Amino acid sequence: RIAFVNGQYVPHKDAAVHVEDRGYQFADGVYEVCEVWKSAIIDMPRHMDRLDRSLRELRIDWPLHRKALEFVMAETVRRNRVSDGIVYVQVTRGVARRDHFFPSGDVAPSIVVTARSANPKVADKQAETGIAVVTYPENRWPRVDIKTVALLPNVLAKQNAKEQGGKEAWYVDQDGNVTEGGSTNVWIVTKEGTLVTRPAESGILKGITRAVVLDLVERHGIAFEERPFSLEEAKQAREAFVTAASTLVMPVVKIDGSPVGNGHPGSVATALRDQFHTATD
Ligand code: PDD
Repeated sequence: RIAFVNGQYVPHKDAAVHVEDRGYQFADGVYEVCEVWKSAIIDMPRHMDRLDRSLRELRIDWPLHRKALEFVMAETVRRNRVSDGIVYVQVTRGVARRDHFFPSGDVAPSIVVTARSANPKVADKQAETGIAVVTYPENRWPRVDIKTVALLPNVLAKQNAKEQGGKEAWYVDQDGNVTEGGSTNVWIVTKEGTLVTRPAESGILKGITRAVVLDLVERHGIAFEERPFSLEEAKQAREAFVTAASTLVMPVVKIDGSPVGNGHPGSVATALRDQFHTATD
């Protein structure tokens, strides 16, 4: 395997950043995960737009020109012979003597790009049975709209889910509303058959997979509402699913041990999963 680190392609086993990298010391950085499908990076423009926004919000410079980064990502996918999988991009504020203040302007941001294969059959099999989720109190900072590498709350929530037999955590806020998953956006189909997802204005990352599903929803005229929904409503829902670049549309069949709908993946989730790549860039 090959990784791209600060301007060079290096063997993955030797790929390293400096101990004084601010990503390491302060989680002072951002990332993107893009799907690789049929050897192509899916939704590159949308991912680059979101990366641009994340960098701006944290006032980190682009590590290289956008077109150059796109090239490096494609090249990293090619060199690793990934046909189905993900490409990971991480940008941090760079290497400097540990000090909370931003380093001076001549410190260049650090850039890492990796790519790895994922067996699509494994994910498809999981989608056939659906996954269990375990709720967790929302305990993250309010700026979850920025895709930062500061993922410790997500790590703890997901680990808790795993230890209780789940594959994903669902954050529930103080109002009893489901915000999002530990690394996914959350959707339900109500008893009445309306697809519902939380607005991206607050409490969630504006997922690229979410945006693709929204395009599908519009194209197919699916009954849809963008509004907050409670854990109670989710438990009563006909179906539920989560979305992310890593899992695409993944049906949820259990919430905290109780079955969703008939306990099997729903027809809306299954159709959206099947149709997914008709709406990607
Ligand atoms: N996670 N919400 C959170 C907290 C996420 O970390 C992610 C993505 C999403 C979905 O975003 P998108 O559809 O753009 O992947 C929502 C990535 C896959 C990860 O951390 O591995």
